[in-house]
Amino acid sequence: MNDTEYYKLVRPYEDAMNMLLIRIRVLGHSLYNKEEEQLYHTIHNRIKTKDSIENKLTKKKLDTSVKNAKDNLRDIAGIRVICLFLEDIYRLVELLTRQSELVFIREKDYIKQPKANGYRSYHLIIGVPVYCADTMEIFPVEVQFRTMEMDLWASMEHRILYKGNREKDREQIKEELMLYSETLREVENYFKRFR
Ligand code: GTP
Ligand code: MG
Repeated sequence: MNDTEYYKLVRPYEDAMNMLLIRIRVLGHSLYNKEEEQLYHTIHNRIKTKDSIENKLTKKKLDTSVKNAKDNLRDIAGIRVICLFLEDIYRLVELLTRQSELVFIREKDYIKQPKANGYRSYHLIIGVPVYCADTMEIFPVEVQFRTMEMDLWASMEHRILYKGNREKDREQIKEELMLYSETLREVENYFKRFR
């Protein structure tokens, strides 16, 4: 895939992501007026880079073509919503999936069922319709909902185990991270009463 093909590929994903971002922000505005009762704390978003798309396709043993990217990747557009409280995650998910036009594609609830390494997060793939002159196409956007504790853990784990070279003490760090995942869950649980 060359640069031109890449930009053409990601453009509608970017439009879909921006439309979904607005819907999430509006939910934050309209539910409560008081800032301290906002349903989310911060939102991040990103479009997968060309390198990242190609690496992922290669990992899946696929050619790095535009068609393969469209057919096989559902996280070209990604939004991450960080909440103060776990309950807010489920409230937001409920409100969002209820909206007409948005298509529920898939959920992965790593909060109810954490991964073996300690990773917790709620993942939703939502289809967003993008209208052009006389066509309409649904584009998937991956939304990850996390509490600040979940996000701290996931960001650190990503940084330590993916970016760093940890050949020697990898297993030990993994074990420690599992314990800290539990500790952070306790911290989250403590703050719950202040919602
Ligand atoms: P991917 O091919 O990784 O996208 O997996 P998937 O399509 O099965 O999706 P899944 O919902 O399991 O994970 C999607 C995304 O969640 C990943 O791209 C990461 O951003 C995040 N994620 C999943 N597992 C972990 C983990 O163990 N640690 C961290 N730090 N992030 C994770
Ligand atoms: Mg991914």
